[in-house]
Amino acid sequence: IIEDVIFRIVFDSRGNETVECEVYAGDVVGRAIAPSGASTGTHEAVVVDPYKIDEIEEKISKALIGYSVFDQVAIDEKLREIDGTENFSNIGGNFAIATSLAVAKAGAELLGMPLYEYLGGIFAKELPYPLGNVIGGGKHAEGSTNIQEFLVIPVGADNFFTAQRTNAMVHKTLKKLFKKKGIFACKGDEGAWACQITDNDAFEILSEAIGIVKDETGVDVRIGIDVAATELWNGEYYVYKDRKLTTEEQISYIAELVDRYNLLYVEDPLHEEDFEGFAELTKEVGNRCMICGDDLFVTNINRIQKGIELKSANTVLIKPNQIGTLTDTFKAVKIAKDNGWYVVVSHRSGETEDNTIAHLSVAFNAKLIKTGVVGGERTAKLNELIRIEEDGLNMTKLPFC
Ligand code: PGA
Ligand code: ZN
Repeated sequence: IIEDVIFRIVFDSRGNETVECEVYAGDVVGRAIAPSGASTGTHEAVVVDPYKIDEIEEKISKALIGYSVFDQVAIDEKLREIDGTENFSNIGGNFAIATSLAVAKAGAELLGMPLYEYLGGIFAKELPYPLGNVIGGGKHAEGSTNIQEFLVIPVGADNFFTAQRTNAMVHKTLKKLFKKKGIFACKGDEGAWACQITDNDAFEILSEAIGIVKDETGVDVRIGIDVAATELWNGEYYVYKDRKLTTEEQISYIAELVDRYNLLYVEDPLHEEDFEGFAELTKEVGNRCMICGDDLFVTNINRIQKGIELKSANTVLIKPNQIGTLTDTFKAVKIAKDNGWYVVVSHRSGETEDNTIAHLSVAFNAKLIKTGVVGGERTAKLNELIRIEEDGLNMTKLPFC
């Protein structure tokens, strides 16, 4: 039985204030922290000013005290009810998700079970591959590449530890290559390398780094990208530093990249309202590449449903704070999987030491977990998966490999 719900303001990896929730039940405390995005989707749950903490804490604690922590669905419905809006604009998606996840963690703790097992049961038996951001630009590092994220997937690794070590080796090898080529590189919000190079150069240097790592380890690594195309779209064109592309040109450009660099994963290749453009690209390359919607779907069951009807993608990005409750996150995962789509669980660019999404990625049978490569707020999740691996779980089987 929930005896108390409290909040405090803590800091994220960008130094911004965010909210932490603690749920007290019996002898246990469940705790979770809300992350936050920089290239957020228009249709995401609203982030409310953390300094509204007193007012919101009073509302949420009054509503939830007395519930059993095992009543996750009823509690999540109650959060929606006291908010009273579609997008959590009153109590905030940030307050809501911290509460919802803290409730689940208290439930797992009361049963003495890891969270992934509490949520995923006997079907949570596989580990996702880490999808690691190694070169980045866009909103995460202005002045760097146009494409927001150049990602790596260590498809040849047969366990999670090796997978993460491989991604880390690519990240370190890139540092050496930048130095050798006289390119000054610093790190963006997610720890990926940011520098003044073109997107083409980024692909070439990354391919070189992957080749070096393959020679050293024998592990095959494939490339993915998050175009975060909403940030490039001006209402008429996709605006790059040196050129402008129409929707049709953008689709051919991305399809070309898929074949030239054998991309396994492409996220948000078109802007957040272009379900049709997504469908065209998916028709062209969806038989050999994961086409994933982030800002397009915002973990929202209605938008995913529309994408399924229009065949806009074959993969959905899952960010619990985009929708605000664990129950709605679970529904988004379920509809995607029921329709044969792949699931990728993701961090935000503003993160903390909270490692809940590591457990969610296992519970939801995600193919990939997108949570960076370096930086404590990223390794918090990766290291938790290394611990979970000790429970005897095997790697999932990736599509198109
Ligand atoms: P965000 O970006 O967390 O800044 O929204 C990450 C992404 O676009 O995947
Ligand atoms: Zn994205």
